[in-house]
Amino acid sequence: MTLTKKKIIIVGCGPGAIDYITPAAEAAARKADVLIVSQRLNEFFPEIDAERIDSGTDVDGTLDIIASRRDEGRQVVLLATGDPGIASLAQPVIRRFGRANCEVIPGISSIQVAFARLGLDWKDARIVTAHSRDPEESADDLRNCGKIAILGGRAGSLRWAARMIPEFGEGRRIFLCEELTLPGEKIREVRAADLIRISVSSRAIILIIRGEQMP
Ligand SMILES: C[S@@+](CC[C@H](N)C(=O)[O-])C[C@H]1O[C@@H](n2cnc3c(N)ncnc32)[C@H](O)[C@@H]1O
Repeated sequence: MTLTKKKIIIVGCGPGAIDYITPAAEAAARKADVLIVSQRLNEFFPEIDAERIDSGTDVDGTLDIIASRRDEGRQVVLLATGDPGIASLAQPVIRRFGRANCEVIPGISSIQVAFARLGLDWKDARIVTAHSRDPEESADDLRNCGKIAILGGRAGSLRWAARMIPEFGEGRRIFLCEELTLPGEKIREVRAADLIRISVSSRAIILIIRGEQMP
Protein backbone atom coordinates (compact mmCIF):
# COMPACT_ATOMS: atom_id res chain seq x y z
CA MET A 1 0.00 0.00 0.00
CA THR A 2 1.36 3.42 -0.88
CA LEU A 3 0.93 6.18 1.66
CA THR A 4 -0.54 9.50 0.57
CA LYS A 5 1.78 12.26 1.65
CA LYS A 6 -0.10 15.18 3.09
CA LYS A 7 0.58 18.80 2.34
CA ILE A 8 2.68 20.50 4.98
CA ILE A 9 0.60 23.25 6.59
CA ILE A 10 2.46 26.40 7.59
CA VAL A 11 0.43 28.44 10.04
CA GLY A 12 0.90 32.07 11.04
CA CYS A 13 0.11 32.38 14.74
CA GLY A 14 0.30 36.14 15.29
CA PRO A 15 2.67 38.18 17.47
CA GLY A 16 2.06 36.39 20.75
CA ALA A 17 -1.40 36.90 22.26
CA ILE A 18 -3.96 34.16 21.84
CA ASP A 19 -6.55 36.71 20.65
CA TYR A 20 -4.39 37.39 17.62
CA ILE A 21 -4.53 33.78 16.42
CA THR A 22 -7.15 33.55 13.70
CA PRO A 23 -9.83 30.82 13.73
CA ALA A 24 -8.36 29.57 10.42
CA ALA A 25 -4.94 29.19 12.06
CA GLU A 26 -6.40 27.33 15.00
CA ALA A 27 -8.39 24.98 12.75
CA ALA A 28 -5.25 24.21 10.73
CA ALA A 29 -3.16 23.56 13.85
CA ARG A 30 -5.76 21.08 15.08
CA LYS A 31 -5.14 18.86 12.06
CA ALA A 32 -1.57 18.19 13.19
CA ASP A 33 -0.12 14.78 13.87
CA VAL A 34 3.24 16.50 14.15
CA LEU A 35 3.69 20.12 15.25
CA ILE A 36 6.92 21.89 14.42
CA VAL A 37 7.20 24.73 16.93
CA SER A 38 9.71 27.21 18.28
CA GLN A 39 10.12 27.44 22.05
CA ARG A 40 8.09 30.65 22.00
CA LEU A 41 5.12 29.02 20.35
CA ASN A 42 5.22 25.77 22.27
CA GLU A 43 2.71 27.02 24.82
CA PHE A 44 0.11 27.50 22.09
CA PHE A 45 -2.51 24.79 21.63
CA PRO A 46 -1.54 22.66 24.70
CA GLU A 47 -4.62 20.50 24.11
CA ILE A 48 -3.48 19.33 20.68
CA ASP A 49 -2.31 15.76 20.96
CA ALA A 50 0.52 15.81 18.43
CA GLU A 51 4.19 15.00 18.46
CA ARG A 52 5.98 18.31 19.14
CA ILE A 53 9.30 19.01 17.53
CA ASP A 54 11.37 22.08 18.37
CA SER A 55 12.15 23.98 15.19
CA GLY A 56 15.41 25.08 16.85
CA THR A 57 18.14 26.64 14.76
CA ASP A 58 19.19 23.69 12.61
CA VAL A 59 17.10 24.39 9.52
CA ASP A 60 18.35 21.42 7.48
CA GLY A 61 17.81 19.10 10.44
CA THR A 62 14.25 20.39 10.84
CA LEU A 63 13.57 19.90 7.13
CA ASP A 64 14.84 16.30 7.35
CA ILE A 65 12.50 15.62 10.29
CA ILE A 66 9.57 17.11 8.36
CA ALA A 67 10.44 14.86 5.39
CA SER A 68 10.60 11.74 7.54
CA ARG A 69 7.26 12.40 9.29
CA ARG A 70 5.61 13.26 5.98
CA ASP A 71 6.94 10.05 4.43
CA GLU A 72 5.05 8.20 7.20
CA GLY A 73 1.79 9.78 5.96
CA ARG A 74 1.49 12.04 9.00
CA GLN A 75 0.09 15.56 8.91
CA VAL A 76 2.92 17.98 9.61
CA VAL A 77 1.99 21.49 10.75
CA LEU A 78 4.61 24.18 11.18
CA LEU A 79 3.72 27.06 13.48
CA ALA A 80 5.28 30.42 12.65
CA THR A 81 5.12 33.62 14.68
CA GLY A 82 3.29 36.52 13.09
CA ASP A 83 2.83 35.91 9.38
CA PRO A 84 4.83 33.15 7.68
CA GLY A 85 5.68 35.62 4.89
CA ILE A 86 8.21 37.46 7.04
CA ALA A 87 11.37 35.82 8.35
CA SER A 88 10.03 32.34 9.01
CA LEU A 89 10.83 28.75 8.07
CA ALA A 90 8.14 28.92 5.38
CA GLN A 91 10.53 29.69 2.53
CA PRO A 92 13.06 26.91 3.31
CA VAL A 93 10.14 24.46 3.65
CA ILE A 94 8.49 25.55 0.39
CA ARG A 95 11.82 25.48 -1.46
CA ARG A 96 12.53 21.94 -0.27
CA PHE A 97 9.05 20.38 -0.65
CA GLY A 98 7.56 22.54 -3.42
CA ARG A 99 4.65 24.94 -3.38
CA ALA A 100 2.18 22.24 -4.45
CA ASN A 101 3.01 20.25 -1.31
CA CYS A 102 2.56 23.12 1.13
CA GLU A 103 -0.34 25.25 2.29
CA VAL A 104 0.23 28.59 4.00
CA ILE A 105 -2.29 30.02 6.44
CA PRO A 106 -1.52 33.71 6.91
CA GLY A 107 -1.27 35.29 10.34
CA ILE A 108 -1.18 38.76 11.81
CA SER A 109 2.38 40.02 11.64
CA SER A 110 4.09 41.89 14.45
CA ILE A 111 4.85 44.50 11.78
CA GLN A 112 1.15 45.06 11.10
CA VAL A 113 0.56 45.51 14.81
CA ALA A 114 3.45 47.98 15.18
CA PHE A 115 2.13 50.18 12.36
CA ALA A 116 -1.43 49.87 13.64
CA ARG A 117 -0.36 51.08 17.09
CA LEU A 118 1.06 54.25 15.51
CA GLY A 119 -1.97 54.74 13.26
CA LEU A 120 0.17 54.46 10.14
CA ASP A 121 -0.35 52.55 6.93
CA TRP A 122 2.57 50.44 5.79
CA LYS A 123 2.08 50.00 2.04
CA ASP A 124 5.37 51.83 1.42
CA ALA A 125 7.32 50.49 4.40
CA ARG A 126 10.73 48.93 3.98
CA ILE A 127 11.13 45.85 6.18
CA VAL A 128 14.62 45.05 7.41
CA THR A 129 15.33 41.76 9.15
CA ALA A 130 17.96 42.09 11.86
CA HIS A 131 16.64 39.55 14.37
CA SER A 132 19.23 36.85 13.65
CA ARG A 133 22.14 38.76 12.09
CA ASP A 134 23.06 42.23 10.93
CA PRO A 135 21.21 43.21 7.75
CA GLU A 136 22.96 43.60 4.42
CA GLU A 137 21.26 46.93 3.69
CA SER A 138 23.52 49.99 3.70
CA ALA A 139 22.57 53.52 4.76
CA ASP A 140 22.35 54.41 1.04
CA ASP A 141 19.76 51.67 0.50
CA LEU A 142 17.57 53.00 3.30
CA ARG A 143 18.10 56.76 3.31
CA ASN A 144 15.17 57.49 0.98
CA CYS A 145 12.64 55.30 2.76
CA GLY A 146 9.95 57.23 4.62
CA LYS A 147 9.07 54.26 6.80
CA ILE A 148 11.44 51.52 7.92
CA ALA A 149 10.57 48.61 10.19
CA ILE A 150 13.52 46.76 11.68
CA LEU A 151 12.87 43.34 13.17
CA GLY A 152 15.24 43.50 16.08
CA GLY A 153 15.57 42.92 19.77
CA ARG A 154 18.97 41.21 19.57
CA ALA A 155 21.80 43.23 21.14
CA GLY A 156 23.61 43.22 17.78
CA SER A 157 20.57 44.51 15.91
CA LEU A 158 20.16 47.36 18.38
CA ARG A 159 23.82 48.30 17.95
CA TRP A 160 23.41 48.12 14.17
CA ALA A 161 20.33 50.38 14.27
CA ALA A 162 21.95 52.87 16.67
CA ARG A 163 24.93 53.18 14.32
CA MET A 164 22.91 53.30 11.11
CA ILE A 165 19.97 55.62 11.91
CA PRO A 166 22.04 58.84 12.23
CA GLU A 167 23.34 58.16 8.71
CA PHE A 168 19.81 58.42 7.31
CA GLY A 169 19.79 62.16 7.99
CA GLU A 170 17.69 64.55 10.05
CA GLY A 171 13.98 64.49 10.72
CA ARG A 172 13.41 60.86 11.66
CA ARG A 173 11.30 59.72 14.56
CA ILE A 174 12.16 56.38 16.14
CA PHE A 175 9.60 54.20 17.87
CA LEU A 176 10.52 51.11 19.81
CA CYS A 177 7.64 48.62 19.84
CA GLU A 178 8.13 45.78 22.32
CA GLU A 179 6.10 42.73 23.36
CA LEU A 180 3.29 43.66 20.99
CA THR A 181 -0.13 42.24 21.93
CA LEU A 182 1.36 40.77 25.13
CA PRO A 183 0.84 42.01 28.70
CA GLY A 184 4.21 43.83 28.65
CA GLU A 185 3.48 45.72 25.42
CA LYS A 186 5.36 49.00 25.34
CA ILE A 187 5.66 51.61 22.60
CA ARG A 188 8.08 54.45 23.23
CA GLU A 189 9.72 57.15 21.18
CA VAL A 190 13.49 57.01 21.57
CA ARG A 191 16.67 58.50 20.14
CA ALA A 192 19.10 56.35 18.17
CA ALA A 193 21.67 56.40 20.97
CA ASP A 194 19.06 55.15 23.46
CA LEU A 195 18.88 51.83 21.63
CA ILE A 196 22.18 50.74 23.14
CA ARG A 197 21.56 52.27 26.57
CA ILE A 198 18.17 50.97 27.53
CA SER A 199 16.98 47.47 28.21
CA VAL A 200 14.96 46.16 25.26
CA SER A 201 12.84 43.03 24.95
CA SER A 202 14.02 40.37 22.53
CA ARG A 203 10.60 40.80 20.89
CA ALA A 204 11.01 44.27 19.47
CA ILE A 205 10.43 46.21 16.28
CA ILE A 206 12.10 49.53 15.61
CA LEU A 207 10.04 51.84 13.40
CA ILE A 208 11.89 54.73 11.81
CA ILE A 209 9.49 57.24 10.36
CA ARG A 210 10.18 60.47 8.51
CA GLY A 211 8.59 63.22 10.57
CA GLU A 212 6.17 64.35 7.85
CA GLN A 213 4.70 60.85 7.59
CA MET A 214 3.37 60.92 11.15
CA PRO A 215 -0.37 61.61 11.43
C1 LIG B 1 11.81 35.47 13.28
S1 LIG B 1 11.06 37.04 13.20
C2 LIG B 1 9.42 36.55 12.86
C3 LIG B 1 8.50 37.66 12.39
C4 LIG B 1 7.08 37.13 12.19
N1 LIG B 1 6.99 36.25 11.05
C5 LIG B 1 6.05 38.25 12.04
O1 LIG B 1 5.39 38.35 10.98
O2 LIG B 1 5.85 38.98 13.02
C6 LIG B 1 11.04 37.47 14.89
C7 LIG B 1 11.02 38.97 15.08
O3 LIG B 1 9.69 39.45 14.94
C8 LIG B 1 9.47 40.54 15.82
N2 LIG B 1 8.39 40.17 16.75
C9 LIG B 1 7.74 39.02 16.84
N3 LIG B 1 6.78 39.07 17.79
C10 LIG B 1 6.84 40.31 18.32
C11 LIG B 1 6.11 41.00 19.34
N4 LIG B 1 5.12 40.41 20.01
N5 LIG B 1 6.45 42.29 19.61
C12 LIG B 1 7.44 42.91 18.94
N6 LIG B 1 8.17 42.31 17.97
C13 LIG B 1 7.87 41.04 17.66
C14 LIG B 1 10.79 40.78 16.56
O4 LIG B 1 11.51 41.75 15.83
C15 LIG B 1 11.45 39.42 16.46
O5 LIG B 1 12.86 39.54 16.56
